[in-house]
Amino acid sequence: MLFSRVALCHALLAWSAVAKPILTNENRIEWKPCEFEDDRQGDGPLECGNLTVPLDYTNHESDDRFIVELLRSRAIRSSSRGSVLLNFGGPGSDGVKNIRFGSSSLHNGTGKTLTFSCFDTADERNDFYQLWPYIATRGPASWDEFEVDIAWTWAFEQTFSNQCLRRNEDSQVGKVIGTTFVARDMIQIVDALGEDGLLRFLGFSYGSILGVTVAAMFPDRIDRMVLDGVVNAFNYYNTASIDGDGALSVDAAYHAILAECIMAGFPSCPLAETFANVTEYENYTLSDKVQVLQQLLEMRFERLRRSPIVYGLTIILPTYGLILRDALIEQRYATNFELTKSLQFLIMNMEEGIPYVIETIKKVMKGRAEESSDGNESFDGIHCGDKSGPHARLESFQEVKSRAWQAIGVTQVWAFRVGTFFTGCAKWPFESKERFDTNILLRDGGIKTRFPILFTAPTYDTRTSIHSARNMSTYFDNSVVLEVKGYGHCTGTQDSECHTKATNEYFLDGILPEDGTICNIDGPLFEPPENSTQPAPEEQLNQSLALAGRMVWEGRQQNLWSITSTYQRHGRHLIAP
Ligand SMILES: *[C@@H]1O[C@H](CO)[C@@H](O)[C@H](O)[C@H]1NC(C)=O
Ligand SMILES: *[C@@H]1O[C@H](CO)[C@@H](O)[C@H](O)[C@H]1NC(C)=O
Ligand SMILES: *[C@@H]1O[C@H](CO)[C@@H](O)[C@H](O)[C@H]1NC(C)=O
Ligand SMILES: *[C@@H]1O[C@H](CO)[C@@H](O)[C@H](O)[C@H]1NC(C)=O
Ligand SMILES: *[C@@H]1O[C@H](CO)[C@@H](O)[C@H](O)[C@H]1NC(C)=O
Ligand SMILES: *[C@@H]1O[C@H](CO)[C@@H](O)[C@H](O)[C@H]1NC(C)=O
Ligand SMILES: *[C@@H]1O[C@H](CO)[C@@H](O)[C@H](O)[C@H]1NC(C)=O
Ligand SMILES: *[C@@H]1O[C@H](CO)[C@@H](O)[C@H](O)[C@H]1NC(C)=O
Repeated sequence: MLFSRVALCHALLAWSAVAKPILTNENRIEWKPCEFEDDRQGDGPLECGNLTVPLDYTNHESDDRFIVELLRSRAIRSSSRGSVLLNFGGPGSDGVKNIRFGSSSLHNGTGKTLTFSCFDTADERNDFYQLWPYIATRGPASWDEFEVDIAWTWAFEQTFSNQCLRRNEDSQVGKVIGTTFVARDMIQIVDALGEDGLLRFLGFSYGSILGVTVAAMFPDRIDRMVLDGVVNAFNYYNTASIDGDGALSVDAAYHAILAECIMAGFPSCPLAETFANVTEYENYTLSDKVQVLQQLLEMRFERLRRSPIVYGLTIILPTYGLILRDALIEQRYATNFELTKSLQFLIMNMEEGIPYVIETIKKVMKGRAEESSDGNESFDGIHCGDKSGPHARLESFQEVKSRAWQAIGVTQVWAFRVGTFFTGCAKWPFESKERFDTNILLRDGGIKTRFPILFTAPTYDTRTSIHSARNMSTYFDNSVVLEVKGYGHCTGTQDSECHTKATNEYFLDGILPEDGTICNIDGPLFEPPENSTQPAPEEQLNQSLALAGRMVWEGRQQNLWSITSTYQRHGRHLIAP
């Protein structure tokens, strides 16, 4: 999701049978058994259907249509309470692939229309990215270097935009994959489902932008909406980056994670060994120790920069340390034990630990690669095309530089990284035909949705911030914010029974938690290796689905949910949790 060219949390989910009888005559989708390119059906039973929608909602003369390919898993009881649509974010990430539901066969069976790509072949793409200067093999060391990095990134962004324009000049795809059209598609899906005409929606990360957009455009259609890992829509729609506020909690997250580590102690968190039996530290407070750890790590990365370690065919660069550190901050890809053990080896400069460090790095990189292979350039295509107003594009390097410096005010820990991504859409050549006007949110008294929205967010999310959840809630009448004292992007990274219960009560019974409710996570962040239950990297991709499953779990238990779907114009699917 947010500061890299990779997809984030990722999809659309559905339920049936409230008070209103099903209006079969509105049901325009013919459901059939799915035909996938292999026989794998995932956790079925699945059905497939097609829905034809306008390609361009702004052009009433045009008969151009495209097919939204849908997948559904029916409620097992006949009395389904309706459909819940689910979006896992990105934008542009492939929900089915991320969910791993039935694996790649489903991916191949759907999502074949309106794809957006800036390259004809994978080789062409690889060659192009080789030119990108900010594949930080060293990490900028000084503010001077930082400015050089921005200059190069800026130059690269321009060639990237030129490439995307050249590849898509003759196509209208860049103009019709925007978020408002997806919002309109969702209403078409709701109508075609022939239920009660109301939208039930669960949106993660970018999915929260989709949620806010559809709720502002169609407030009377909202029956239930949970938005998790929330993006600030003003920043998303009106600035050249996704949401600069997304990094607001990064430094706090880093400090809190180091503090958890020190409290957990050795052996749960190997980094804590730094303080074991060292009298010098005996009277240090927790926050002193956090600072010491942070300084030791920085010093180590700096030392690696000046004298990289050679191990066989591998050079251990400072990037390695940064990758490990950032994975720890983001709580993804590898277990905390492996990450902190590897960082510990680096701090102690222990050569015998190097193979372990390399193994851990490989795991992290594999997780990243799986994420970024998603959706080609649709991430840029969707979020850049969505933007409007005087700050959506940047004309001069001067403007770019001032944005990047502004970004640094948001986080010290990720200063260099965030700064260069503040310009992502600076020169994007396409504009979505219908762009969302955030002034709609400023209506007196806020947007009055038919049923209030529930915003949920972890305290220490590093891609979206709890501040953005609170900000968005301000603009939706009676909406509430539920905070989970957890880490990582979206609330799913750690279990929280309190959060699961609250979201279930909301979906099933329409009970909103009190605004500002804070839920704790159920277990410790650091556990000894033998107790560590964090899933392997490939299973982590499934985590978002597991969360969705938990959030509507009781409904699932009662077999009330009939459909889960993932949807955006690039790569569309309906699937079941
Ligand atoms: C949906 O449309 C696609 C493309 O036209 C077609 O291949 C597929 O069989 C259709 N699926 C269903 C369930 O009708
Ligand atoms: C789906 O497509 C991918 C990439 O083209 C391919 O590697 C994979 O084998 C395909 N899977 C199936 C089940 O056809
Ligand atoms: C992604 O790009 C490749 C070329 O690199 C192309 O073959 C493929 O069809 C694209 N896929 C999507 C989903 O756009
Ligand atoms: C600290 O000292 C105690 C007692 O001398 C010893 O048992 C323990 O293993 C030491 N811990 C570490 C992490 O070195
Ligand atoms: C820690 O505090 C105790 C009690 O005040 C003192 O005796 C001891 O010397 C201090 N240790 C260090 C390393 O300063
Ligand atoms: C929400 O965020 C926008 C963009 O940063 C800002 O202009 C606005 O004042 C914020 N609103 C509130 C209520 O904090
Ligand atoms: C780890 O597991 C063991 C055995 O199941 C248990 O006794 C111990 O309390 C666990 N430790 C933690 C920190 O959960
Ligand atoms: C994904 O999660 C579902 C249910 O949560 C589970 O049945 C399935 O086996 C998981 N798939 C993978 C690849 O872990």
